[in-house]
Amino acid sequence: MEQNRRDFIRSAAFLGAAAVAGRSSAQPKPAPKAAAAIRIAHCGDPQFGFGQEGGKNAYKYDLARFERLIKSVNRERPDLVFLAGDMTHVAHDVTRDWPRLLTLFKSPVLATPGNHDLGIPLLGRRLARYRGVFGYDYKSMKVGKWRFISGNTMYWHKTEEVEEKRKYEEWLAAELAKAKAAHEPVILCGHIPPFVSNAGEKDGYENYPKAGRAARLKMYLDHGVHYFLSGHTHRLIVRAHKGMTILNPETTSRNFDQLPYGYRMMTLRDDGYGWDFIRV
Ligand SMILES: [Fe+2]
Repeated sequence: MEQNRRDFIRSAAFLGAAAVAGRSSAQPKPAPKAAAAIRIAHCGDPQFGFGQEGGKNAYKYDLARFERLIKSVNRERPDLVFLAGDMTHVAHDVTRDWPRLLTLFKSPVLATPGNHDLGIPLLGRRLARYRGVFGYDYKSMKVGKWRFISGNTMYWHKTEEVEEKRKYEEWLAAELAKAKAAHEPVILCGHIPPFVSNAGEKDGYENYPKAGRAARLKMYLDHGVHYFLSGHTHRLIVRAHKGMTILNPETTSRNFDQLPYGYRMMTLRDDGYGWDFIRV
């Protein structure tokens, strides 16, 4: 296992919370039993066919690299695998290998659709094809004490599926409300991050449209979202926004920042998190 330990990052928010709790005790108390750590394989855009190796055979090269990723992830046996969207570079290729690949993972998989899967604007026929391979485009799952909500950020851009967007917004609001009522800390997963530099940045290819961005961020923070795991940018990003951290990993297709191909293994503990790079 190749891991870059320098990339281990601890969450100041958790460390801070633990310190405050310790100071507030009048009498020393035995430390509460720490909850077991959970591990999530965070996989950036597989996007078969977008890679720079292999020329016309880029699809095959990207696929072979992703098959190595599956073997690596299966050796690690995380509690969850998150696929951050853009499954193939050309949308109709999604039926070629993904049905087979999804049977190979030995851990539960959460997948989110990207712009290369659904299009901008989001097209109904692409949504149906994606659902035919990956199931629903948004899902919620509890792992340990954490609530994972895998959304569909493509609805924030133009869509011909207006009714589907309405249903999604309703579902997301209900999932966040349920998590808050149950005191479940939340990890949101989606293809496009809310922002890449700062919350007030202009509209661009890599972020949520500014109209609605601040309201969505506020909604996330109000409902206990600690992390936002995303893809789309094809470059490594770590951003803090108040109590929330946005994380974008390396990919196995093309990294615009020239980092090696691989994925990130996130480890969540009560006192922080690790986000280790694993090369493939
Ligand atoms: Fe992509």
